[in-house]
Amino acid sequence: MSGIAILAIDGPSASGKGSVAQRVAEALGFAYLDSGALYRLTALAAQEAGIDWSDEQGLAQIAQSLDVRFEKDLTFLGGQDVSGLIRSEVVGAGASKVAAFAAVRQALLARQRNFAVAPGLVADGRDMGSVVFPGARLKIFLTATATVRAERRYQQLIARGESADLVAITRDLQSRDERDAARKEAPLRQWDDALLLETSQLSLDQVVECVLSWWKTRTET
Ligand code: DC
Repeated sequence: MSGIAILAIDGPSASGKGSVAQRVAEALGFAYLDSGALYRLTALAAQEAGIDWSDEQGLAQIAQSLDVRFEKDLTFLGGQDVSGLIRSEVVGAGASKVAAFAAVRQALLARQRNFAVAPGLVADGRDMGSVVFPGARLKIFLTATATVRAERRYQQLIARGESADLVAITRDLQSRDERDAARKEAPLRQWDDALLLETSQLSLDQVVECVLSWWKTRTET
């Protein structure tokens, strides 16, 4: 992995890190890893196989044998397009539950590292800079206030023609944040070697510009 440049972006749900990471990867000509999608896919595959979201060993087996394909903006599970399904609030809540298990995280580790191909990778998640790619050249903790994140998620759902309840979204985000931060395995946290990027007052373009300029500075020194 040493010759491959890694940019790790970690942060809470709905912080916009996925859109930012995708745009930055495109600008740099790098591969992109949406690690949250793997946890979402594990939750969905388990649900479809009748495995309970509390069955650690059953979930780890599911995670180990996931038949996944990412193609542009689409995600396939066992050949089925599940791009919309894995973004649902129910699957998101399931992902947060299955992600708390050490055996599940271990089962997904090598799969995530395999995304690192030359010339580089932009990876987003919760533990990209701490566990999966500790040697990343640049680590960013990207966040926004819970109110701003809930509002962004609300607008996304409305734009997709789905019904949305801002109060419920805020409550769900807060409980997911708490679960992700309180867990023993790879908790959500800004580690000392990550740069903080608070995006509440910034547009997507401004955030992308900032990440690219930090990357330029970091790789030129
Ligand atoms: O980023 P996301 O909302 O798609 O992530 C879904 C869930 O997966 C989230 O609740 C936390 C978990 N997750 C994780 O534990 N580690 C990662 N690297 C990425 C996501």
